[in-house]
Amino acid sequence: MKASAIAHPNIAFVKYWGKYNDKLYLPMNGSISLTLNELTSQTTVEFGNFKADQITLNKNDASDDKKILKQLDLIRQLAGITKRAKVVSNNNFPTASGLASSASGLAALTVAACKAAGLDYDKKQLSIITRQGSGSSCRSIYGGYVEWRMGASNDDSYAIQLADENYWDIRDIIAIVANREKKVKSTVGMEETVKTCPLYQGRLAVVNHHLAEVRAAITERDFKRLGEVAEYDSLMMHATMIATKPSLLYWAPGTVAIIHAIGDWRAEGLPVYHTIDAGANVHVITLPENAAEVEKRLRKVEGVNDIIHCRPGGDANLIEKHLF
Ligand code: DP6
Repeated sequence: MKASAIAHPNIAFVKYWGKYNDKLYLPMNGSISLTLNELTSQTTVEFGNFKADQITLNKNDASDDKKILKQLDLIRQLAGITKRAKVVSNNNFPTASGLASSASGLAALTVAACKAAGLDYDKKQLSIITRQGSGSSCRSIYGGYVEWRMGASNDDSYAIQLADENYWDIRDIIAIVANREKKVKSTVGMEETVKTCPLYQGRLAVVNHHLAEVRAAITERDFKRLGEVAEYDSLMMHATMIATKPSLLYWAPGTVAIIHAIGDWRAEGLPVYHTIDAGANVHVITLPENAAEVEKRLRKVEGVNDIIHCRPGGDANLIEKHLF
């Protein structure tokens, strides 16, 4: 009753920010993302005769992590087992970088734990189950370009692959930005936005258009079309965050410096766009032939601490090597 899995985080071009069902993690809108190869979460799960669940994340005890405990309970319930679990999980990216996205962590946990519990689920079922632990993780079940369909019920809200990781090589140059502020976690932040932000309905009114644009841009491998809508969708999400009560301002000075710089670089003819999640780091999207130049320029922007260059990544998968 032991299994291990690997999964990658993803960056959304049309963002998920808000649920209409907080228990089942059913989203207010569909979203589309790219899975990121260079970042990984590896997780081993064993169900056995342990006294309690034992969870170790990046070598630290995390046995009280509510998201993981809830996900283990869901999988035990589906498998009809009561055995406690031992979980060890490592990210290959520094936790302090603010990239500790729950997407890859939950996807790797779900794939490993389902297998360890004897549940032989297909990707659609895995996507539905991991979604209930963290919404964005349902997209990390697949590699490449992935759409999470909003759906109207639990069984109906899952991710599908639009194109695999070899279909179109674009790059996500992640600029890690100095940030000392404590950020509000996505789950809580989006709940507050849905409840208090008068601009939120405005975003919902245009998001289906953004989804159609991104799908078309992927089909046509039209980088300008993709970049323009991704950047706008991200800014619109941040506008709703900023107009939440109390305001959710995830940006740091370095974030704003990069936004300005990208506008200048684009005016010079460099194909480069930004998209930002619930944090200060900036995902800078560009084409392979411009990636080295973009990286070089980003390193000179004040407030940029580090750069991670990501290519399109693959599916979440079971792996042979166990972490214990
Ligand atoms: C801004 O998936 O982390 O990255 O479902 O509550 O666990 P929960 O939230 P989470 O939210 C991700 C929000 C985002 C946008 C996105 O990835 O689509």
